Amino acid sequence: MSVSITINDVVKRYGDKTIIDGLSLDIKPGEFFTLLGPSGCGKTTLLRMIIGFNSIEGGVIKIDDEVINSIPVNKRNMGMVFQNYAIFPHMSVGENVAFGLKNKKLSKNEIKTRVDEILNIVKIEDLKDRMPDQLSGGQQQRVALARAIVTHPNVLLMDEPLSNLDAKLRIEMRNAIKNIQQQMGITTVYVTHDQEEALAVSDRIAIMNKGVIQQIGTPKQVYERPENTFVSNFIGTSNLLEGTVEIQGDKKYIQFKNGYREEVDIPGEFTEDIDVFVSIRPQDFIISTEGEGIEGIVKNSMFLGINTHYFIELSQDHLIEVTQDPDVSEDIKENTKVYLKIKPNKVNFFHKESQYNLVKEGESYGYEY
Ligand SMILES: Nc1ncnc2c1ncn2[C@@H]1O[C@H](COP(=O)(O)OP(=O)(O)O)[C@@H](O)[C@H]1O
Ligand SMILES: [Mg+2]
Repeated sequence: MSVSITINDVVKRYGDKTIIDGLSLDIKPGEFFTLLGPSGCGKTTLLRMIIGFNSIEGGVIKIDDEVINSIPVNKRNMGMVFQNYAIFPHMSVGENVAFGLKNKKLSKNEIKTRVDEILNIVKIEDLKDRMPDQLSGGQQQRVALARAIVTHPNVLLMDEPLSNLDAKLRIEMRNAIKNIQQQMGITTVYVTHDQEEALAVSDRIAIMNKGVIQQIGTPKQVYERPENTFVSNFIGTSNLLEGTVEIQGDKKYIQFKNGYREEVDIPGEFTEDIDVFVSIRPQDFIISTEGEGIEGIVKNSMFLGINTHYFIELSQDHLIEVTQDPDVSEDIKENTKVYLKIKPNKVNFFHKESQYNLVKEGESYGYEY
């Protein structure tokens, strides 16, 4: 049976430096949950609190209903995969994986059965007798994963497990990890600073900055409705334009600073105009060489197979990225003047002062959840 993890108001201090100051989140049984954030934001610190390598200075961590704060590492029944693999160079693949079982008091036969089962799951059964220096990076990472799950732990923790692999292998391994996680139904906390990787593997993602969770949501939710500008900038590519949401009677308009104005239908009651940053993904522009819209000059274009990307100068030093709908065949040449409209219910409007999104996640506006 899969377990839940409840993290309630936890505090982590190193000496007099507070790294995490009251962080809470709930991870569901069997969930693939990712901590995503820039280097130094506290992801590893939190993971080490969950497994027990770090002390906890406040709050509680629970597995199902049991508080585990003072349970030692080896009694927590968790497996962990580290960034640098940490497999033993003097042991064969089979011995490395069996090492995970050494305190389990199992017979030789049981150990062999368990090791073979796991090597089969991570698809390295034919490498059982190899030594680590005869393995590729991806194979070594599979050994580390096998060793972490051979005990059938309740919780699997992974700290940037793919960051030492090349781009192609990273994609192959993230698919393998996702499949194995689903096959075993094991509650998983995955750490990465790579937003694309997080979007690809996770059921839900918590985006962290400076020890504080900025948003928790499904990959779609955090991509489409980022709660604030930090999340918006961290996930995917987006362009920020200044403007004002203007209220006129029962209508709302986005008035861009550079002149263009368009009706929008943002949910919620606003009583006065609000200065905003409008965050627009490259694919949420409609580009045309005539008509009206935000004016710009095409500086550069790139054909990337699915569609063409344009880099468009709105004013000096303000370059934005726009993709053209794939069904438009017309190619726009460099130095052409263009007019950009937006897909108003796909873009996000961030309150200039608070940096919070005027459109709340889950509001059925533009996207369905
Ligand atoms: N053992 C430690 N002693 C003191 N400071 C630490 C220790 N480990 C981490 N830190 C600090 O805590 C912060 C978060 O680090 P870490 O959890 O490793 O971030 P991340 O994994 O997100 O890159 C950083 O400022 C780091 O310097
Ligand atoms: Mg780290």
